[in-house]
Amino acid sequence: MDGKETIKIGVLVSGGGSNLQAIIDAVNVGALDVEIACVGADNPGAGGLARAEKAGIPTFVTDYSALFASRKDGAPLPGDFSLEEVAAKQSLLKDADPETLKAFFEKRALAEADLLARLAPYKIDLLVLAGFMRVFTPYFIDGLNAGSTLPRIMNIHPALLPAFPGTDGYGDTFRYGCKVGGCTVHFVDYGEDSGPIIGQHSFAILPEDDLDAVKKKGLAEEWRLFPECIQLYAEGRLNVVEREGTRVVNVLPGE
Ligand code: GRF
Repeated sequence: MDGKETIKIGVLVSGGGSNLQAIIDAVNVGALDVEIACVGADNPGAGGLARAEKAGIPTFVTDYSALFASRKDGAPLPGDFSLEEVAAKQSLLKDADPETLKAFFEKRALAEADLLARLAPYKIDLLVLAGFMRVFTPYFIDGLNAGSTLPRIMNIHPALLPAFPGTDGYGDTFRYGCKVGGCTVHFVDYGEDSGPIIGQHSFAILPEDDLDAVKKKGLAEEWRLFPECIQLYAEGRLNVVEREGTRVVNVLPGE
């Protein structure tokens, strides 16, 4: 995409990183006005890290398990973290007792402060979650979104939201007996898989399809959908507006 302005994105992965690969490939063929500034993972074994290294993209690991354990051992909380503020905004834990809530948000604050610090030098416009299997608290989301009216975190989910949020979208879709499956790209808000929807692709689930077939069809759609949505962001065509009490994404027409 010669002569066009590019945005800088960071990508976070937890696993194999086939979505990351789709984004790298789309950049390489000039289909995205994007520079992938860095790729991070929540665990050192994430296969996506090797894909990034192969593509010459800087990588880092925020080791969530190690940081969670360090909190148990008394590691201090980030100076700008307020449990009261985070607890008042969040909608991840409902009906949790105060001790559970405190432990949940405090250990995440440690990991999220590390993530924010590692991302900061890259000055990214957009953070893309490509199979990143951690929820974010308002501490991280507000930190990343600071100074921007448009949300800055985009996630891909393996189901047609708002159906089947959670970690096993294709499994839940298949076991429910749905005749159509799909994937969703959305902005991240304070809930789990609840943010404004940017784009969705669907596919037919046929009587002969097993769960593996459903996952295969779904991933193939993800690899198309994610670059499309990132490009809409890069072109400045996404707008979040209020519609009947809900925040929704308006996609502005292209040139
Ligand atoms: C994808 O199905 C994504 O929707 C889900 O985790 C999977 C990641 O796959 N959140 P990959 O690591 O991109 O191959």
